[in-house]
Amino acid sequence: MDISQAWRRGSRRYARPLADQDELKKAAAEKALELVRDGMLLGLGSGSTVRYFTEGVGRLVAGGMRLRGVPTSRATAELAATHGIPVVEDLVGSIDLAVDGADEVDGDLRLIKGRGGALFREKLVAAAAKRFVVVVDESKLVKRLGVGVLPVEVLPFLWRTTAGRLTALGASLTVRGGEEAPFITDNGNLILDLQFEGGVDGAERLGKDLNDTLGVVEHGLFVGMTDTCIVAGADGPRVIGGSVSRSG
Ligand code: 5RP
Repeated sequence: MDISQAWRRGSRRYARPLADQDELKKAAAEKALELVRDGMLLGLGSGSTVRYFTEGVGRLVAGGMRLRGVPTSRATAELAATHGIPVVEDLVGSIDLAVDGADEVDGDLRLIKGRGGALFREKLVAAAAKRFVVVVDESKLVKRLGVGVLPVEVLPFLWRTTAGRLTALGASLTVRGGEEAPFITDNGNLILDLQFEGGVDGAERLGKDLNDTLGVVEHGLFVGMTDTCIVAGADGPRVIGGSVSRSG
């Protein structure tokens, strides 16, 4: 699906145009709150956009809704606890609805995630969800993935040998945080930020190659996982791929 076409189809004019990026993030996240129903187990994503969703879930809980959340990072677990959301970390069965942000979204709703460093748990939660909804402002839309870096979580043990395998796939890379004081994920691993000149050529194939690379824990390509994307632009949030309705 071409995202710009979907925008035109789904366009609803807002009385007052949204402008500020933070306002756009909030508008996308608040639209996703319309999907929440009493009794749901929710996947709670990480980052500055989905933070508004988690805060909104907190308001629903305070209003009497019975909701629980599976957080995708320690930061989100703390945020959820602060807002009175019961946290589940040992899952039996599936998550009803997972909502998360993204760093890049292409026209087929393929994503790059993980610039906040939480990609592994984010992917586990998305994969465990009956419905995975992505909330973004329009700055995240790209024609081709790989405008920015593709984060890959790797084991610290012999990480340079893993990095060598990754550069053999055609990427240049940097260690997140630098080699002196690297960023450590919630899982105790490193993030290598991969850059592909001209962008990612064949996201599905690359995803498989990364999964097959010894030393890689998980990568930030999310292919075939997104059910719905809520994109907020100046005219308000547009829903791509599946409806959002209060009654449905
Ligand atoms: C964290 C992520 C985030 O979802 C992604 O970085 C988007 O964050 P933000 O909403 O702050 O732009 O993948 O690992």
